[in-house]
Amino acid sequence: MPTVVFTDPQGTEHRVEAPSGRSLMKIAVDHGVPGILGDCGGACSCATCHGYVDPAFAERLPARTETEEFMLEGVPDLRATSRLCCQLRMAPELDGIRIQLPDEQV
Ligand code: FES
Repeated sequence: MPTVVFTDPQGTEHRVEAPSGRSLMKIAVDHGVPGILGDCGGACSCATCHGYVDPAFAERLPARTETEEFMLEGVPDLRATSRLCCQLRMAPELDGIRIQLPDEQV
């Protein structure tokens, strides 16, 4: 099965199995990865699933939607690589993707 590597705010790496079609937020929460909350359940309305995506995978991801852009405006440390993990679905071409979780969620 493909995997995703989340790095939590303390710098600990969590390599977890990632079923295709499941959102990266749900995958992290399924495995109890610290530093990601997913308070709205994936409705793109809370921004507590913020993560920094490895730039090597950037072009394999869908572009941010207007709603995602709007929600990201409220995160504490917005970067070019910022994404909301609930808006990204696992796919075979994302095997091994790395996501750094921010020091704090909103
Ligand atoms: S889980 Fe709420 S915006 Fe992603």
